[in-house]
Amino acid sequence: MTTTTPSPTAAGSGANASEAFRASSERRGPAATSQERTDRVVRRVLEAIHQVVREEEVTYPEFQAAKRWLMDVGEGGEWPLFLDVFVEHEIEKVAARTQRGTVGTIEGPYYLPGQTRLPAVATLPMRADEKGDKLVFSGQVRDLDGHPLPGAEIDFWQADADGYYSGFAPHLPDGNLRAVVVADDQGRFEISSIKPAPYQIPTDGPTGALISAAGWHPWRPAHLHLMVRADGHRQITTQLYFTGGEWLDDDVATATKDELVLDPTPTAEGWAVEYDFVLERA
Ligand code: DHB
Ligand code: FE
Repeated sequence: MTTTTPSPTAAGSGANASEAFRASSERRGPAATSQERTDRVVRRVLEAIHQVVREEEVTYPEFQAAKRWLMDVGEGGEWPLFLDVFVEHEIEKVAARTQRGTVGTIEGPYYLPGQTRLPAVATLPMRADEKGDKLVFSGQVRDLDGHPLPGAEIDFWQADADGYYSGFAPHLPDGNLRAVVVADDQGRFEISSIKPAPYQIPTDGPTGALISAAGWHPWRPAHLHLMVRADGHRQITTQLYFTGGEWLDDDVATATKDELVLDPTPTAEGWAVEYDFVLERA
């Protein structure tokens, strides 16, 4: 992390992440949860908390600290950040039990829909002086039988070389390092970008306060985010990591999977790597 780049505050990215989540849940439609399911799941969550209180003999001062912290998370707009780091990975693993094709992982709080659509061979929108090693990421989107999926969309977002996401860090231009790349008639694509840096979840808000109070670390390994979709097929949401990268085995968000680690090769300009996606029928 450099100190020359203005740091986005936790409150700033938290507020944006809350707004982005509200918009996305409207897009995804109403939550379908029955009374039976609410009763069962919420009761079991509460029972799990009660059990910890009993077994750990949680005190009144600890209860007060927890209450104050929960209020701070809400007021700071950090629920999307906190839940995507500490809970989403288990939701995703349950979803993965019934999914075939390329494995998924968490979406995280920083997806923004409606980005610039680009053709199959594309350079992501970036600043003229965008820092970082060049990375050419190419591949093919196929179905489970190996047939190419022409016109598949790769909805791509990543942090910059300082670990910041456009739309959540005011010093970055809107849409920086984000695009929807449309694969060619063979389902192929080639995206030119830069290698992102490891990402540190905001440390100056309540989530950061908890992480330091507990003696944890706030780092995620460097990663690319993608959604891949094609007509008639199940959309996948995943991330790709880099072999040998720092924090790969100790991701604060517990969202790495062996199948999702890239091994780029050096080129004259930077790095190149291929990765193919496999989608199952919807
Ligand atoms: C968070 C950030 C990410 O880039 C990500 O992939 C997951 C979680 C976060 O700050 O909560
Ligand atoms: Fe991320």
